[in-house]
Amino acid sequence: MSNSIFTDTLKGIKRERPPVWFMRQAGRVLPSYLELRKQHSFRELMLSPELAAEVTLLPVTDLGVDAAILFSDILIIPEALGMDLKFTDKGPIFDAPLQDAGNQFSSLKADSSKLEHIYKALDIIKKQKPADVALIGFCGAPFTVFCYMVEGNSTNHNFSNAIRLFYNNPKLSAQILETITELSIEYATTQADHGIDLFQLFETHAGLIPSEMYIERILPYVKRITNSVRTKNIPVTFFPKGLGTGLAHINHDIADFAGIDWQYSLTEARALCDTKVGVQGNLDPRILSIDNQDILKAELEKYKAFGKQNYNWIFNTGHGLSPDNKLENVKFVVDWVKNTNWDRD
Ligand code: CP3
Repeated sequence: MSNSIFTDTLKGIKRERPPVWFMRQAGRVLPSYLELRKQHSFRELMLSPELAAEVTLLPVTDLGVDAAILFSDILIIPEALGMDLKFTDKGPIFDAPLQDAGNQFSSLKADSSKLEHIYKALDIIKKQKPADVALIGFCGAPFTVFCYMVEGNSTNHNFSNAIRLFYNNPKLSAQILETITELSIEYATTQADHGIDLFQLFETHAGLIPSEMYIERILPYVKRITNSVRTKNIPVTFFPKGLGTGLAHINHDIADFAGIDWQYSLTEARALCDTKVGVQGNLDPRILSIDNQDILKAELEKYKAFGKQNYNWIFNTGHGLSPDNKLENVKFVVDWVKNTNWDRD
């Protein structure tokens, strides 16, 4: 047993409570983040190793979470491949999405120097973070990154242009996925070399295609990325949002933990995934926007039976926090997880 509930849980050691953190815990609800955003653009915060380190650690002080996730974005991989990216009020926008021409794809070339600031940020975070707080690195999983590169933005939630190319041109799709995977492997393993405790692969848009097709055409790329990190002895969480019953394929060859989205039952997900795979999740983040904390508390109480029996479980939301979540509700969840008697024998 160590002084970190988070790293002990990663190792399968039974602790008195589940560790807690939230996807998108930094850049959403914190007044301290919103204050920094008045002075700096999102890009400035991401590109400066000092500022990115500062933002990464804000939720540790302001919320009391057990882990900090690197402050960056999944779309820096397409940017490092040479695609022009803007973060706007309407979300991320690529100037020249790959949707209509393979020739745009052939001009892409990886420039690893564009990722250097991330490694510098990790070094600073490692020095500044409390010893018992885990540091999580991440990148986007290949299909989600493909969706953004082809569609060019997220205003069309169906990503219909990306899906059309995926069906229409499997060969070009595979080439794009291969390019994403190769750079993601370099990026992920270098994050591992810079001292992260856990790596998370975000597949936010797994649910846009049939799960059997996801397993057949995408999971092999996922496996290459996750296992490249695991060869460095760093555990990996894979978050395939919307994969549904496809979770049955998330075995220990793929990941150490599976992130479960809010649509799926945590108990059923537990039954579907390989017993050697831990689970993370899965409170619906939208409940963090309500006024009545008694309702929130009742929702949390439902996790008690699960948490009593399951030690390889990390408490989290079933998707990222959103800007309309209430700070006091997010704090309430952290305190509740920490102060509950989980009655683990
Ligand atoms: O706590 C954190 O915020 C951690 C850092 C983080 C960001 N993006 C910062 C960010 C992480 C882990 C991500 C992941 C990410 N980015 C995902 C996967 C997780 C998920 O929520 O589904 C996806 C799909 C993206 C792509 C992306 N980046 C979108 C769709 C947007 C715009 C809408 C939005 O979510 O805010 C971004 C911009 C972005 N990434 C912001 C932040 C803090 C907002 C920038 C701002 O302040 O204007």
